[in-house]
Amino acid sequence: MIPLKSKREIEMMRAAARKLKTVFQELRRSIKIGMTTLEMDEKAERLIEAQRAKPAFKGYRGYPACICTSVNEEVVHGIPSKRRLKEGDLLSLDIGLIHGGYVSDAARTWAIGRAKDEAVELMEVTKRALFVGMAQMKTGNRLGDLSHAIQDYVESCGFSVVRDFVGHGIGRDMHEDPQVPNFGKPGRGPKLEVGMVLALEPMVTAGSWEVDILEDAWTVVTRDRQLAAHYEDTIALTEAGPENLTGPQAFDEELSDSFLIKT
Ligand code: MF3
Ligand code: CO
Repeated sequence: MIPLKSKREIEMMRAAARKLKTVFQELRRSIKIGMTTLEMDEKAERLIEAQRAKPAFKGYRGYPACICTSVNEEVVHGIPSKRRLKEGDLLSLDIGLIHGGYVSDAARTWAIGRAKDEAVELMEVTKRALFVGMAQMKTGNRLGDLSHAIQDYVESCGFSVVRDFVGHGIGRDMHEDPQVPNFGKPGRGPKLEVGMVLALEPMVTAGSWEVDILEDAWTVVTRDRQLAAHYEDTIALTEAGPENLTGPQAFDEELSDSFLIKT
């Protein structure tokens, strides 16, 4: 069953999403070369508390931290640790928070300092993939239209989409129906309706789409150990069309959120 949200509920989700945006902005500003991912997690926890919100990931199925920090060949669910960020690292940062009973979930991938051209291209394609999917999030379409558009775009750029992890409906629970794959066939799946709120989250790899899970039972890495990027936003389908609650409405809005972090 796909829970549809009323206008009032979407307004609540907007409020939670605004808090998440602030957390992302402030966390980004605090990133320095040599910082550990655990220090980032501690900072994120304080920022979430300062918003009078609660971290959505901590304790979720036993997950030990507030954020996921996935570096280079790590795709998603990297656990914050004593690992220090170094120049050229590709950091995917995934954060979820709960406010007023609603969950907001988003992820960004940024390069620390500088990055190779291929890494910048990978980040750009991953972000664009989200907007390609969002453009298909309209009444009259089916979920498969959205999934297919993302896959088609990413593969046309020579990259791959991860199959083993997918986006999801979101609301009172972080993971609600439907699952939102970044691959699929047009015309398939449930019809999209006003009131649906989806976390679109393209996970894009430079090489093959195959992934492994590390010994820690969480960290997802590319099997070929090539780079991966992750971009996620919480998006509502309103009467006026799709509305990105946690991020920009278009690829080239909010240029302050560039792919390179000056340190
Ligand atoms: N954004 C991720 C997701 O949608 C984050 C989950 S991490 C977890 O699944 F620890 F909370 F599982
Ligand atoms: Co998610």
